Amino acid sequence: MKKIIFIITMVVNMHGLIKIGHRGACGYEPENTLKSFSKAIELKVDMIEFDVMQCASGEIVVIHDDKVDRTTNGYGLVSNLTLQALKKLDAGNGENIPTLYEVLDLVNKRCKVNIELKGLGVAQKVNLIIEGYIKKGWSYDDFLVSSFEFNEIREFKKYNNIIKTELLFWEPADYIKIAQEYNCNFIGLDKSLVNKKLIKEAHEQNIKVLVYTVNDFKDIEFLKNLGVDGIFSNYPDRLL
Ligand code: G3P
Ligand code: MG
Repeated sequence: MKKIIFIITMVVNMHGLIKIGHRGACGYEPENTLKSFSKAIELKVDMIEFDVMQCASGEIVVIHDDKVDRTTNGYGLVSNLTLQALKKLDAGNGENIPTLYEVLDLVNKRCKVNIELKGLGVAQKVNLIIEGYIKKGWSYDDFLVSSFEFNEIREFKKYNNIIKTELLFWEPADYIKIAQEYNCNFIGLDKSLVNKKLIKEAHEQNIKVLVYTVNDFKDIEFLKNLGVDGIFSNYPDRLL
């Protein structure tokens, strides 16, 4: 029996699990910082995931929460703070909050990037930035754009219908139907929402299933055996 499970695991792995560093490699370095992204690349991820929003002076910055309170030594809403003010904050280990430009420059095509749109009204600016990097030699396939805000994905598609998009879910829903309505190729689910039947149905409809945020070795093995397409982990070396 053990041998059969081993062979199945090997076959599943051969299909190529997408190994995604969540907020970089935030189990090792402060989340959504250049250090965290460098660490994830060092750990040989296929893709890094990070969150973007717009600050008061209009730049697109890489940070998870609406407020800077949890991840920096400052306080207040990102949308009320200018880039100059944000740059003065310590985001952990002396790192600062990076802009989207700074992250893409650091990555320099060494892995794919999953840009998660947080909040509303960032789609057009994010697309303009991406298009700048396409002109510099990146490919559309280097990007995946995701959001829990389905209307923001709809908005993004108005500007760019080539880049693959992912709808994120944190509670049960009719995932496949909704993904088809929004013309998305990926769904991203909390690990508690995934089962074999769903993965089979998604694959029948050419929709890939990514699962967040999985750090436990047993969970990783379980999900690989279910045949998920990709996993987000704070410790992306555990996915290898
Ligand atoms: O994209 C997967 C995951 O990042 C979604 O949740 O809250 O970590 O942005 P969160
Ligand atoms: Mg995220």
